[in-house]
Amino acid sequence: MRRNILLMLKKHRDEFISGERISQELGISRTAVWKHINILREEGYEIESMPKNGYKLVSSPDILILEEIEEYLTTNFIGRNIYYFDSLDSTNTKAKEMAMDEEEGTVVVAEEQIKGKGRLGRNWVSPKGKGIWMSIILKPNMLPSEVAKLTLIGAAAVNKALEEMGIISYIKWPNDIVIQGKKVCGILTEMSCELNIINYVIMGIGINVNLLKEDFSQELVDKATSLKEITGRDLDRKRLLASVLNHFENLYLPFKQRGDISATIDISRGKSLLIGKEIRILRGNDEKIGRALDIDEQGGLIIEYKDGTREHIFSGEVSIRGLREYI
Ligand code: BTN
Repeated sequence: MRRNILLMLKKHRDEFISGERISQELGISRTAVWKHINILREEGYEIESMPKNGYKLVSSPDILILEEIEEYLTTNFIGRNIYYFDSLDSTNTKAKEMAMDEEEGTVVVAEEQIKGKGRLGRNWVSPKGKGIWMSIILKPNMLPSEVAKLTLIGAAAVNKALEEMGIISYIKWPNDIVIQGKKVCGILTEMSCELNIINYVIMGIGINVNLLKEDFSQELVDKATSLKEITGRDLDRKRLLASVLNHFENLYLPFKQRGDISATIDISRGKSLLIGKEIRILRGNDEKIGRALDIDEQGGLIIEYKDGTREHIFSGEVSIRGLREYI
């Protein structure tokens, strides 16, 4: 019911709507309307009330609930169902628990993660209200070996969403988003499958939106940054989250329906941080140095080694570093 009241207030933004009208349209008493309005206020909505005129929505809190995001969403199924949590261990862990019973496109979002997970068992710093910490549940009908490509789609979607907000970023293949040599977003894709059938894929996306320098540990401060540190302003997390989901669906659909990943590859190539650079390729304890030449049609990174031999590597197999620094 509260959701319906909120939607009515949003529809009539900047004007008063009477308690009577709300009560009639929604079939509840005026006292019930008043109670719900008070709960919305406790949640952070600024709602003006005037005895004769009714209620007017003045401002909404910076929280990533569906009611706040859907006005920016253009998707058909990605993000049309959002589970919102104030705090979670990890959105990926929660999404995995829920995945079997949820529809494809369901998103789990948390304001903070206590045990945010990064790749290779690392921790992901996820302070409250400062980032976008979310996991998308996907159920593609494809071979598990294709799943690595989904990660490229996630990175391309974030890159495009940032571009829409006027921020140019680069993709450190396969899936780190980097600005001015520092990471602003990471993606952790996890999967459950049996033989050749995928039960579900969880695409965990972490974007450092409004974190400050002091939010990062000493160890991370040279490698990671936030959009706020880069631009000097607070960014609208709701708009950015919706935009990532919009771009994600646009890039995911042709891949899911026809295996067509060309639009994603174009973005990965065009915004590649690695192409043309000498890089270190780490496989367990083994380290090789080569030059990144290109990204192939399947999303593999083409490396040329000093002896002239070439290799196409796929995400998940390796870690990539710059010769001296993170990249
Ligand atoms: C990386 O190491 O680059 C991957 C980081 C992925 C972080 C995101 S935040 C939302 C989701 N939940 C997690 O626990 N991790 C991912």
